[in-house]
Amino acid sequence: MGRRKLVVGNWKMNGMREHLGEVEAIGRVAAAHPSVEVGLCLPATLIMAGSERRGAAFIGAQNCHMDISGAYTGSLSAEMLAEAGATWVITGHSERREARGETNADIAAKSAAAHQAGLNVILCVGETLAVRDAGRAEQVVADQLLASLPEGAAADWLAVAYEPIWAIGTGRIPTMEAVAAMHAALRAALASRIGAEADRMRILYGGSMNGDNAADLLAIADVDGGLVGGASLSAKKFAPIIEAADQQMAAAA
Ligand code: PGA
Repeated sequence: MGRRKLVVGNWKMNGMREHLGEVEAIGRVAAAHPSVEVGLCLPATLIMAGSERRGAAFIGAQNCHMDISGAYTGSLSAEMLAEAGATWVITGHSERREARGETNADIAAKSAAAHQAGLNVILCVGETLAVRDAGRAEQVVADQLLASLPEGAAADWLAVAYEPIWAIGTGRIPTMEAVAAMHAALRAALASRIGAEADRMRILYGGSMNGDNAADLLAIADVDGGLVGGASLSAKKFAPIIEAADQQMAAAA
């Protein structure tokens, strides 16, 4: 086992220059908890300035195009994001799958392009409430993961984030039993595709993770970290999650 906990903030469409002080403060929290890998996926406009003030946190992007360059008005390639200072990128976030019509094949292609450009990837999957209520969540999400997993996916450059869509930004989370069952199902699905590498791959939980629930979520055997939206916007709210991950690392050592 021995997977290093990975705690990543997703700032979504939030953050102006005036918020760079929070990036700096979170970078200091990361430095104080070296057992945990900490990052912030910033809006593209802050990646360059953020990467100069990141401390021990890495800076990531929230999306990339699947091509290297071309006539794609308004898009950014993985190479451009890497040059700006990003070392990670989120692919397949439900807010893009749903609102932008991104398919599993698009997400696999974006993830492969990101790897090609030297970026690490957080590949997101998750079910709707209707699917959860129908009792089909594990099957649907495992299928989604295998359909969006890029060729050659390996633990040293790709992590998975399980984010139930109905838990994002709502303050609601699944039961701990449901999270444990989902993460185990996703690891089994990964093993069916990539064999023993699945044991090294980190599977994050995302969706209303906060300082109050992080310790319980991060104590689940197959939960290797978190992808955090609202609670990552300030060091004050984000630090308790990083501390909870650090405590889990200490407990496992
Ligand atoms: P939330 O967002 O923590 O605000 O629910 C998580 C995400 O969408 O990555």
